[in-house]
Amino acid sequence: MTKTPTPRPQPASAATCPRRAHAGLPAGPHLTPAELHTMENDRLLSTWEDYARAYGPLFTLHTDGAAPRVYVSDPQAIRRLFIANRTTWGARGTLYFRRVIGAQALPYLTGDAHREVRRLLAPPLHSKPVRALGPHIDDIITTVLDTLRHGPRPLIKVAHDITLRLIVRAAFGPLPEERRELCVRLLTEIMDLMYEPAAAPDTDPAPLIQRIDAHVNRLQLFVREESALLRADPAQQRDDLLFHLATSEPAQNDEQIRGHIMTLLIAGHDTTASALAWGMRLLELHPDVRRLLHAELDSLSTAPPNDPAAVAQLPYLGAICAEILRHGSVVPAGLARIVPEDLDWDGHRFPAGTELVPAIHLVHRRGDLYPDPERFDPQRFLGHRPPAAGYLPFGTGTRRCPGAELAEFELATALARLSRTPGLRLIGAEPGLRTLKNGPTMTTPTSLLVALDAPSSARTQRGDDRA
Ligand code: HEM
Repeated sequence: MTKTPTPRPQPASAATCPRRAHAGLPAGPHLTPAELHTMENDRLLSTWEDYARAYGPLFTLHTDGAAPRVYVSDPQAIRRLFIANRTTWGARGTLYFRRVIGAQALPYLTGDAHREVRRLLAPPLHSKPVRALGPHIDDIITTVLDTLRHGPRPLIKVAHDITLRLIVRAAFGPLPEERRELCVRLLTEIMDLMYEPAAAPDTDPAPLIQRIDAHVNRLQLFVREESALLRADPAQQRDDLLFHLATSEPAQNDEQIRGHIMTLLIAGHDTTASALAWGMRLLELHPDVRRLLHAELDSLSTAPPNDPAAVAQLPYLGAICAEILRHGSVVPAGLARIVPEDLDWDGHRFPAGTELVPAIHLVHRRGDLYPDPERFDPQRFLGHRPPAAGYLPFGTGTRRCPGAELAEFELATALARLSRTPGLRLIGAEPGLRTLKNGPTMTTPTSLLVALDAPSSARTQRGDDRA
């Protein structure tokens, strides 16, 4: 497919024609729909950086036929527009994403309805149920590493295998193997289809929607079947997401439960897989960091796989994970919030319909918050955390990621385990490697491989650790 190049920014004085109707908006470039599409789908983060340099920490992308989109990377503005504002505005999602998780899913709810679902989802995503997943992470990694005995695989695929199996475990508890593999397969196929359409903006979406719908229907049937099994034995006590949702107050109907589970399944593995893959690559490139991490892990009285909760609390490992999420811009922008009515703000006028985007990547590249921001340096986070408005890997305000605790726990425990697996090595992790767009996340290219030279030693390590 031929890509339309995204225009490089003009100096601010030559700002490309903000329209009269948009006179009060922050300055910014005017893009054609094709250019906007290219910019969104290629996630040319360096272009965002160019625009921020040319227009400042609030800039507007103007496009004919689309709402103006304002990227915000000034911490003060983030605080006032997103954190202090407790009203949840509508979020814009892509056509295909909406199709998969449903128009009534959390990212598209506003106001009280949004607050209610957030309240419902909070308990199963809190520390206790999240920590209870620790031993399963270890088991899942052992299973997935076993696939490497046939030869190297793309790192991102291996990371997906791990995080997908974990979210399926978190969602449904222990499943018979056949059921688990069915669920994993359906989710993989849905994700592959959903992110296929980096196609030109004028492509007819109908055929793809048909294929997506077929898989989504099958997965919804799966959720319905699991709910029925749960209802057939009301006395059982479980700790999975489905159980929490099915027994919550006020009671949720089947359709609502299905929607929540679909949202968590989809939002809860792709992002963590990208973070894990990027993190492994950074550790590969920084042996000094790896050495310090190993020394910290060695200082634990229990071996890592035996006590994931202790591992997840290690300060240097925590600093590494925080820096991976900052450096990798795993999700480079928060959900675009749609301004519900004309808003006069700080000398600007945002007309109703304007989309406000927390520009996570740009905040994380600010030299005033992170000197030499391109450098990977976990020491930045050792002993202190930057202010909430200056560190946003999980977004901010009322839409801040509800899975943050699970994601951080998963990243820390999986990295610790993988970094100590004997014989595990990356192929093609050279310094110039660029991340790629994959839906809303940035991800490592499939040319980056992972190999296990001595697969049996990975299993031995675990067996020894458990002894
Ligand atoms: C490293 C992993 C992850 C990253 C970097 C990440 C990042 C984000 C970001 C940036 C947002 C948008 C927040 C905003 O616009 O202010 C978000 C929203 C969301 N995330 Fe995550 N996420 C991760 C893992 C997870 C997990 C594990 C789950 C579920 C188990 C999850 C579920 C969600 C949901 C449901 C939303 C929508 C929230 C709403 O609209 O209220 N995410 N995430």
